[in-house]
Amino acid sequence: MTSERRTFAIISHPDAGKTTLTEKLLLRGGAIHLAGEVKARGAARRARSDWMSIEQQRGISVTSSVMTFERNGITFNLLDTPGHEDFSEDTYRTLTAVDSAIMVLDAAAGIEAQTLKLFEVCRLRSVPIITFINKIDREGREPFELLDEIAEKLALDTAPMSWPVGMGGLFEGVYDFEENELYLPEGDSKEFQGKTVKVDGPEDEKLGEYLSADGVARVAEEGLLAREGYPAFDFEAYRNGDLTPVYFGSALKEFGVTAIIDAIAKFAPAPRPQPTDEGEIAPDRDEVTGFIFKVQANMDPNHRDRIAFMRQVSGTFKRGMKLTPSGLGKPIAVHSPILFFAQDREIADNAYPGDIIGIPNHGTLRVGDTLSEKNEVRFTGLPNFAPEILRRVQLKDPTKTKQLRKALDDLSEEGVIQVFYPELGANHIVGVVGQLQLEVLVSRLQAEYKVEAALEPAPFATARWVKGDGKALDEFEKFNRANLAKDRDGDMVFLAKSPWDVNYQAEKNPDLRFSATKER
Ligand code: G4P
Repeated sequence: MTSERRTFAIISHPDAGKTTLTEKLLLRGGAIHLAGEVKARGAARRARSDWMSIEQQRGISVTSSVMTFERNGITFNLLDTPGHEDFSEDTYRTLTAVDSAIMVLDAAAGIEAQTLKLFEVCRLRSVPIITFINKIDREGREPFELLDEIAEKLALDTAPMSWPVGMGGLFEGVYDFEENELYLPEGDSKEFQGKTVKVDGPEDEKLGEYLSADGVARVAEEGLLAREGYPAFDFEAYRNGDLTPVYFGSALKEFGVTAIIDAIAKFAPAPRPQPTDEGEIAPDRDEVTGFIFKVQANMDPNHRDRIAFMRQVSGTFKRGMKLTPSGLGKPIAVHSPILFFAQDREIADNAYPGDIIGIPNHGTLRVGDTLSEKNEVRFTGLPNFAPEILRRVQLKDPTKTKQLRKALDDLSEEGVIQVFYPELGANHIVGVVGQLQLEVLVSRLQAEYKVEAALEPAPFATARWVKGDGKALDEFEKFNRANLAKDRDGDMVFLAKSPWDVNYQAEKNPDLRFSATKER
């Protein structure tokens, strides 16, 4: 079963066409019947609460979801990554749950800031990348220029797999180097509706029957240059993350969409082993294991439900199975797991390595938890990051202390914020990686917990987890109480006034470790 799964994400800068490509992939994969449904459903979902309306105003997607479709006997699990830079932490964690990625570029814009950031996360985890250069139906940059930019900015070899026959007004189709096939636009809308022509190669005279003289020359000349001037596709190099196959297309007009699905099927890795402290766990291990990479509350506003997203690493999951969360130590029975088919949520009976299972729970499962049958392994690599923005939470109605604490605990479990309880003083401190999370926090406090709160500047610039032996730690605690807090797990956190402050304390306390990330 494992070899028949592909778990992947799309990485891109906002507006490059991720939503459109997602829709078309699902459409081709037979998961939805009308393009536009992803967006429509997204809008309906977004309208549901104040929190969601922030996404809408900003035109961004805060809600990460999982879409599953099947084609030619292969199950594809597409994980949606939030595209906004403010959610880099969330995005990072989602990328820990995939085995490969598609990088979507706008042909007019090339590599943009967010593409670069997301690419770096993929590289860090050796996630292989297939590139889709989108919007060739519009004026864009020269294909050669785009290939060179990828190579330079990402230090990645590029192997062109197809070629645009002109762009924008001059667009005449796409030439597929692998199959020696020409994909042709039809009708006024110039969409791809399945019209293809097989030829003997880019110099075949038959192309003249379908393309203008310019187009024929383009395929012959540029095609030759593309194949001679760039590396040929190399499977090992792709799998190692040293080379990306590049497909040109138009998500909107459906050029290159099936090529991308086929490429994922042919080249992308099946579920990969995942790291633990004691070596890797392979998919064929005879035990169900997985890790929680995301927790989302209130997906259904009628139920105060909370879904933990588990990436299954090994074994065959069966409904009702008992799994033990590493954070809890006692087993829970997973009676109503959810698989996220694009049409609707469906109750799963079985799931396999590479699948994502939604597990409804009331706050027992947290991001970073390992779930397993035997409770012997712990997956690593899902850190919390030191927040770069810290705020003091000021409660408007002091009788609501309890609700506030509950809300902050909940939201920190979800990974929306981190919460710190100072050793001195009563106000809670929240930490986030990006500004937008603060707005999400305030509006969710109000909408979901009926707590009115203001966020005030805190005199701290960043936080570090402090670890060390008893004596050194006690000593440090004695002198720095005003700058110390406990996180949600009771671990000690040093709230620093400036990065300089961190360095100073680290030098002064060589026996302690000041860490910018924490793994539970
Ligand atoms: P995102 O999720 O990466 O942010 O991008 P999205 O798919 O929403 O696409 C951003 C805009 O680019 C949309 O236009 C979309 O229609 C357009 N687009 C996507 N792919 C293509 C393509 O292949 N060719 C062309 N010409 N345009 C494309 P919009 O006007 O912002 O939105 P809409 O009103 O069309 O939905």
